[in-house]
Amino acid sequence: MRGDHEQILVAENISKRFEGRVALNNASLAVKRGSITGVIGPNGSGKSTLFNIIAGTLAPNGGRVLIEGRDVTGASAAEICRRGVGRTFQISRLFAEMTVMENLVAVAHGIDDRTAVWRAMELLEFLEITAIADKWGSELSYGQRKLVEIARALMLKPVIMLLDEPFAGINPRLQNRIVEHLKALCAKGLTVFFIDHEMRIVLAECDLVYVLAEGNVIASGPPDKVRDDPKVLDAYF
Ligand SMILES: Nc1ncnc2c1ncn2[C@@H]1O[C@H](COP(=O)(O)OP(=O)(O)OP(=O)(O)O)[C@@H](O)[C@H]1O
Ligand SMILES: [Mg+2]
Repeated sequence: MRGDHEQILVAENISKRFEGRVALNNASLAVKRGSITGVIGPNGSGKSTLFNIIAGTLAPNGGRVLIEGRDVTGASAAEICRRGVGRTFQISRLFAEMTVMENLVAVAHGIDDRTAVWRAMELLEFLEITAIADKWGSELSYGQRKLVEIARALMLKPVIMLLDEPFAGINPRLQNRIVEHLKALCAKGLTVFFIDHEMRIVLAECDLVYVLAEGNVIASGPPDKVRDDPKVLDAYF
């Protein structure tokens, strides 16, 4: 592999079984630095499991995960986070009894509180949500949670963000806003890797798309190629 690791993330032949049931079957993919890469697939096809394995919250039964060329298979979630992998969850994991600001500052590591508050404020400004800085986690709307989750992941200055369904259940206007923010982050060097159900954003915004079905990567390529792939149409309809 090249010294500058053009593929910031590589997952090789990842397999995962849950009590004998196959969730991932030799799934391989690569994410290019600076790209917006998407994963789509029907319910239960293994998308979240794949992200959980990459992020170190689940161990695979087989296969390897490389971040910037380094094998991190089986490393803890904290270690993978230190390697520059940020993530958001399909189901919000914000602290309900903390304010938005506290939620952000709570995850900062290795910087003093003043710097953390400063960084959090910058992120809230960037995402245009300074108005909710003092709201409790429990008070937030579904869409606000999605934005705060993204802000929280960005507190750790990741090089790649794994976003599990950042657009699910929010209105198209907010979806578009999030897309614009993600594109701006990409322009600053971040790599975005996200799961989605809805084809609209995936097809419009991704450089590359992977399609999972029943734990297998059944197609990959630029959106217009994947859209017309008979295997993909088959998996969805
Ligand atoms: N912790 C677990 N224990 C047992 N089975 C699990 C576990 N996590 C996932 N599974 C199973 O693994 C398969 C893949 O699940 P996964 O959550 O990765 O799918 P997904 O593609 O993210 O689906 P969705 O679109 O509904 O979020 C499913 O059959 C699911 O029931
Ligand atoms: Mg999922």
